[in-house]
Amino acid sequence: MAASLHAGTGRLEGKVAWVTGAASGIGLACAQRFTAEGATVVGLDLHETEDWKRSFDGAAKLVCADVRDEDAQRRAADEIVAEHGALDVVVTAAGVAAGGPAHLIPGDEWDRVLAINLKGTYLTCKAALPHMIRQRSGSIVTVASVEGLEAAEGGSAYNASKGGVVLFTKNVAMDYGRIGIRANAICPGFIDTPLFRSIFDLEAMAEQRERTRFQHKLGRFGKPEEIAGAALFFASDDASFVTGQALAVDGGYTAGKSIGVTEKMGLV
Ligand code: NAI
Repeated sequence: MAASLHAGTGRLEGKVAWVTGAASGIGLACAQRFTAEGATVVGLDLHETEDWKRSFDGAAKLVCADVRDEDAQRRAADEIVAEHGALDVVVTAAGVAAGGPAHLIPGDEWDRVLAINLKGTYLTCKAALPHMIRQRSGSIVTVASVEGLEAAEGGSAYNASKGGVVLFTKNVAMDYGRIGIRANAICPGFIDTPLFRSIFDLEAMAEQRERTRFQHKLGRFGKPEEIAGAALFFASDDASFVTGQALAVDGGYTAGKSIGVTEKMGLV
């Protein structure tokens, strides 16, 4: 069964949850935590990973599909409802990182990032919403980024995609709130996942890694489980009056800029 830091207190007992990007990092941590909290979880990802297999050992289904594939997403949502009778929670964690300022990023790379991060999120919601509308209930949790709240050097396409996810989420909250569907975005700081390590473990990024770490006022990068905790809050009835929010879960990254005074005061 799912290895989790948390024993679980049944906060999602009886709920059916669909998590994209579930085979790795933040999505995997959400799938693990939701399972520990009593939910039936169905994941969606490009491929099954060893981490997914180790975590669930056949106890949860992973649909292998691309979030850019509208038909596959619709089929996945329809099958979840056919098999489990409902779709209560959706987490959209599938995503890719990309770099490059506007004059350097190739147009097809821009399209790829927007297609996965932003359109993929929209397609997941589009597939889930007819079921949630019929139920007149549901909680959608999108995974944006602190880079969807403020700009970051060289982050043109990624930031545009994540800023789009934040506003799209608020639109979903506006359009469907009156029939009982909530939608909230999580904006993680830098979280230690395979995606993060593919960038910050590069030798050439050592100095940037240290500077980025220091911008987190808690002095460290986040763990996937810490994003899953926020996703659990939004997914659960504890957040029954919370919708349309973009919550930075970022160790204080967006609280303000560090200019070196903390070190002078000996608070490092
Ligand atoms: P990860 O690379 O560990 O996991 C992402 C998962 O999404 C992978 O399993 C991958 O196969 C899947 N995926 C990618 N493209 C897909 C596609 N076209 N169709 C289906 N699945 C696809 O990355 P991580 O760090 O867990 O990221 C999850 C989300 O969190 C992403 O949207 C990312 O942008 C966001 N995020 C991550 C941060 C970090 O520091 N790790 C910070 C802020 C946001």
